[in-house]
Amino acid sequence: MIDVKNLVKRYGDLLALDHFNLHVNEGEIFGLLGPNGSGKTTAMNCILSLLKYDRGEISLFGRPMTPSNYESKRKIGVVMQNVAVFNELTVAENIDYFCGLYVTDKKRRKALTEEAMEFTTLTDYRKFLPKKLSGGLLRRLNIACGIAHKPELIFLDEPTVAVDPQSRNSILEGIRELNRQGATIVYTSHYMEEVEQLCTRIMIMDKGKEIATGTKEELTAMIRTGEKITVEVPALPDELCERISGIDGVLGVSYDNGQLLVGSRPSSHSLISILDLLRHENIGFGKVFSEPPTLNDVFLEITGKQLRD
Ligand SMILES: Nc1ncnc2c1ncn2[C@@H]1O[C@H](COP(=O)(O)OP(=O)(O)O)[C@@H](O)[C@H]1O
Ligand SMILES: [Mg+2]
Repeated sequence: MIDVKNLVKRYGDLLALDHFNLHVNEGEIFGLLGPNGSGKTTAMNCILSLLKYDRGEISLFGRPMTPSNYESKRKIGVVMQNVAVFNELTVAENIDYFCGLYVTDKKRRKALTEEAMEFTTLTDYRKFLPKKLSGGLLRRLNIACGIAHKPELIFLDEPTVAVDPQSRNSILEGIRELNRQGATIVYTSHYMEEVEQLCTRIMIMDKGKEIATGTKEELTAMIRTGEKITVEVPALPDELCERISGIDGVLGVSYDNGQLLVGSRPSSHSLISILDLLRHENIGFGKVFSEPPTLNDVFLEITGKQLRD
C-alpha cells in the first residue's frame, strides 16, 4: 500500500525527515509513534504529496505518488491533526461537502453522509454548527469528513488529542471498524497506550528517523529489559540495593518513595531471588508487581529519553 524510500525533508536548516523509510501492507493498522516534533506530520504530508521533499521515493498502491495522481488520491482519506471544517456549515452539510469532493452522485452521497454520521455517532447533532460541538464531537466530525467516501487507505494524524475518554474510545473503536471493513490505516500518535492497543504494527520515530518497527511484542523483545519489577518496601538500606543490583539477570535498580524498581532480563527469575534476599535480611515488603516492558521502555532504552514530554 505504501512504500517510502530514503525520504529527506528539510525546513531551512532543520532536517525534519532524515532518510526515512516506511512500508505498509494492505489491511494493516500501522502506527507512527513518536514525541512531538519527531516528524510524523511531515512524513504524512510528504506521502500525500501535500509537501515537497528534498529526496526520496514514495509509492502508493504500487504507483509513484505525485501531486497530480488523482487516481490514487481518490482512494485516500485524510484526517488532519488540526480540525478543518467549515464553521458556516452544519455537521451534515460539512460531511456532504467533503464527501462531494470524491462522490458526485447526490443520492449516493446522501447515503454515505448518513452512514458517516452513524459511524461517528453524530446523527443527533446533524443540524449543529461546529461551534456548538464539544472538542470530542468536533474531532468526530473531522473524522467523518475524512472517511465518508469510503477510502481504501486512511491517514489519521493524532485524531484523539484533547478529547474526553469516551470520545477517544469511540474514535479508536471506529478506526478498528473501518479496518474490519477493509481499509488500511496509518495512525500517528504520541500516546503509547493508544498505539499499543490499536495498531497491528508500529514504527517508533525520533528526530525524523525510524528507531524501530514491529509488532508491540517484537518491539519490546528488541530491548534488554524483559521484566519490570516493583516491590513496595518501606525502608531499604543502600547496601541492600547494591546487593540486588548484583543478582543475576538484574539490569538496573532504583529505590524511591518506598518503591523498589528493578529492571531485569527476560525469564531470569530475578523476582524470586529479590524476594528471597529481602526475606533473608528480614526486610518487610508489601505489594509486588511484575510487568512486561512498554513501548516507552523501548524508546527509553534506544534513545536514552522518555517518550512522554
Ligand atoms: N512548516 C514548518 N516550517 C519549519 N519547521 C517545521 C514546519 N513544520 C514542522 N516543522 C518542524 O519539523 C519538525 C517535525 O515536525 P512535525 O512533522 O510536525 O512533527 P510531529 O508531527 O511528529 O509532531 C519539528 O522540529 C517542527 O518544529
Ligand atoms: Mg504532528
